[in-house]
Amino acid sequence: MSTATFDTFSKEYKVLIEKEVVDYVKKLNAPESVKEAMSYSLEAGGKRIRPLLVFSVLAAFGKDMRLGIPAASALEMIHTYSLIHDDLPAMDDDDLRRGKPTNHKVFGEAVAILAGDALLTYSFQLIAEMTHPQVSAEMKLELIGEIAKSAGAEGMVGGQVADMEGEDKQLTLSEMEYIHEHKTGKLLAASILSGAILAGATAEQRQHLRDFAYHLGLAFQIRDDILDIEGSVEVIGKPVGSDTANHKSTYPSLLTLQGAKEKLNQHIHLAHESLAETKLQTGLLNELTNLIANRDH
Ligand code: IPE
Ligand code: IPE
Ligand code: MG
Ligand code: MG
Ligand code: MG
Repeated sequence: MSTATFDTFSKEYKVLIEKEVVDYVKKLNAPESVKEAMSYSLEAGGKRIRPLLVFSVLAAFGKDMRLGIPAASALEMIHTYSLIHDDLPAMDDDDLRRGKPTNHKVFGEAVAILAGDALLTYSFQLIAEMTHPQVSAEMKLELIGEIAKSAGAEGMVGGQVADMEGEDKQLTLSEMEYIHEHKTGKLLAASILSGAILAGATAEQRQHLRDFAYHLGLAFQIRDDILDIEGSVEVIGKPVGSDTANHKSTYPSLLTLQGAKEKLNQHIHLAHESLAETKLQTGLLNELTNLIANRDH
């Protein structure tokens, strides 16, 4: 696949999902204050990697990518909620996100917490209310189960707790891996699996996609840790040095910057290998994987 084809796809679907998530919030019959706070963070920007993963998996199966709009919106909402809460004073205490003041800086902590809660719960409503004729009740149930498990205590929330409890401690590589796989990897995996569920993937295809997701998730967070050191605040749109300030164990702190880059490359290589095993049309997924490996924000 040419880079130009990928660029056209990612631009087009980024614009699409940005409109969809905001339209979904507009439809809510709810206090304007919470709707404003929800839209603020959804509209602030972001790479929209999780929606792009849903669409790219559907494309790999030759399915209509628009089938993934509600699930992709739901995943972007869960991700955005996780960022709002991650930035709170009780957590990473960051002031800048997606190039703008963090949600709690603008709306106050109480509304920021509630906007996060609303984004999380609305995401499951969106899936429950899917009406596409190709989406069966069984698929919806599977989507809800997969996404809930990945976002909750066994997934992202568990990773965030372990990350917090690991502050000021020297963690082992396997402890770090648990944190990265859960706080970041699980929601990326849920995005990939959501595409697979909607495409009617076989158990074997799902397993290869889970292997792909595992390596992609670790690579994604290793890159995030590297950018916390090497990135520039203007480009990443969030503070640099947040991990050091919070005494976090990160891949660079454990393995050195060079060692972290080598680990990143290993996981990217293994991600491509798992993709090849699926025997699907993985052009967009391969490009997305390379983008994650080399991203500067
Ligand atoms: C940032 O995620 C938080 C992590 C899970 C590392 P992204 O890097 O996907 O953030 P946005 O959505 O582009 O802002
Ligand atoms: C958080 O990881 C991952 C989430 C679940 C939000 P980080 O704390 O490293 O994310 P950033 O660097 O603030 O985006
Ligand atoms: Mg954090
Ligand atoms: Mg953070
Ligand atoms: Mg980070």
